[in-house]
Amino acid sequence: MPEEGLADAFGVTEEARAKINLALHVTGQRLDGYHLLDMLVTFAEHGDRLGFLPAQADAFTLSGRFGGALAEDGGTNLVLRARDLLRETVGALAFPVHIHLQKNLPIASGIGGGSADAAATLRGLMRLWGTRLPEDALAMLALKLGADVPMCMESRPLIARGIGEKIEPVPDLPAFAMVLANPLKGVSTPEVFRRLATKDNPALSLAPRVPNTADWLAAIDAARNDLEPPARELVAEISAISAMLQASGALLTRMSGSGATCFGIFATMTAAEDAAAALHDARPDWYFQATETVSGGM
Ligand code: C5P
Repeated sequence: MPEEGLADAFGVTEEARAKINLALHVTGQRLDGYHLLDMLVTFAEHGDRLGFLPAQADAFTLSGRFGGALAEDGGTNLVLRARDLLRETVGALAFPVHIHLQKNLPIASGIGGGSADAAATLRGLMRLWGTRLPEDALAMLALKLGADVPMCMESRPLIARGIGEKIEPVPDLPAFAMVLANPLKGVSTPEVFRRLATKDNPALSLAPRVPNTADWLAAIDAARNDLEPPARELVAEISAISAMLQASGALLTRMSGSGATCFGIFATMTAAEDAAAALHDARPDWYFQATETVSGGM
């Protein structure tokens, strides 16, 4: 369904922006097995889109480049889990709803597609059902759906600590011109965490104020994604895709989340769009998407 089509057909629409881990440091592990992380996170203009409409009975439809892949992956649909969990919480207000998901983001790809969809579902259904939860209750409900869902509720630049639930906005993070690149090989997040050699790496350390984009790039460059080495062991293409981004003029490249998506930051959106087009010509079977990220002062 084209963008305008979604807005015309569904009264309430929500963006589920791709989540980009500019840095991800693994600093420890909780007794329940979850890892303690320090993350610098931003969000892309590009993402999935969702529409919500009152209906006689609950319905769920899919479109978009990766809609087919999600349909085959029934057990992991976070949109339906988010709908059911919110309904349990708000009770009689929660009339039946038709939810449409335009799945533009590859699944199991380290850019939080499922988490962003779950967060967008919570936001969209609260609007449709005319209800708001207290901030604490909403944050707990989001965390129940996944460690990345609370930050996707925000969808603006932030630092997340704990397992992802301790969130601080980063208002001075600028927008970046970016290319997202994925070899369309899904990665199992638990498997990447299991392969980590060390779990108590140095924390993320950022100056209290970073004055401009060049300094931000230097600060991000000095940070890491600790999940990149184990993910590269699982998916050999990550090394190739990162080298391709670098060769096409990226100022900085890194893997996001548990992979396999890598991002390249470019000097301008024109440079990013040209690089994405050339990379697509070289590997039409992979995913390359130029996108601007949101700025902290949005
Ligand atoms: O919370 P979510 O469902 O996104 O996490 C998927 C899996 O990734 C968890 O079951 C856990 O194995 C691993 N994980 C972790 N530490 C985190 C987040 C996720 O070990 N902070």
